[in-house]
Amino acid sequence: MNIVTNLKEWKTIRQSLNSKTIGFIPTMGNLHDGHLSLCEKSKADNEITVVSIFVNPTQFNQKKDFANYPRTVDLDCKKLDVDFVLLPEKNEIYFDNYEIQLTETNLSLDLEGQFRPVHFTGMLTIVLKLLNLIHANRAYFGEKDYQQLLLVKKMVEALFIPTEIIGCETIRAEDGLALSSRNSLLNKNQREKAKLFPQLLNSNLSAHDITEQLISLGFKVDYIVEKWQRRLGAVWLDDVRLIDNFRLC
Ligand code: PAF
Repeated sequence: MNIVTNLKEWKTIRQSLNSKTIGFIPTMGNLHDGHLSLCEKSKADNEITVVSIFVNPTQFNQKKDFANYPRTVDLDCKKLDVDFVLLPEKNEIYFDNYEIQLTETNLSLDLEGQFRPVHFTGMLTIVLKLLNLIHANRAYFGEKDYQQLLLVKKMVEALFIPTEIIGCETIRAEDGLALSSRNSLLNKNQREKAKLFPQLLNSNLSAHDITEQLISLGFKVDYIVEKWQRRLGAVWLDDVRLIDNFRLC
């Protein structure tokens, strides 16, 4: 497995891969089985698989959240079995001082956008930069971040980017909690309680009753709503934020 930290080096490598099909998984590291399942899908579909690890500062609303984001690059590289891992430096990625930004003005204002105002502009900008660097045939995103997936698909279509965006099912722990890098921030009690979030979100209760029950259990609820044929939710357990969604039958 080749670990590349320098974008000039990556561009030379990329030219040598021109005849191959390439699958790409963008990540912010702290890799779990959800990420690894995206890698397996990419390896089955493509000749070459590239994973990027970059904790993108521009998509965090709060400096504290960015500072606390779990960083485990050495362990991540040990977990990976792909062709290339790209570990770009902030100065190289944002050589423009983030003076160029990509903003979507409709879908991005809903749900997550209401609670994390700058998040989607940061996310779309970094995904666009990475897609332009990797020139993949396919890029893989988890359905857990469902609004992110919709926005990335919309961006690729709107900007004529020749990468197919593939949404992959959420991978869950045995008790139903969606795998997420943020789960590692939960203490034992919080982790025990966290499993009630997907259980209630996927229950037959109304969105209103789910909200009431979550509040009575000690969750702070940002939203529980039904749209895009899904029921989506975002909650807090103390200072850890969890999001999830289920397809409505
Ligand atoms: O889903 C994530 O981990 C991030 O939003 C992404 C797509 C890697 C962009 O930083």
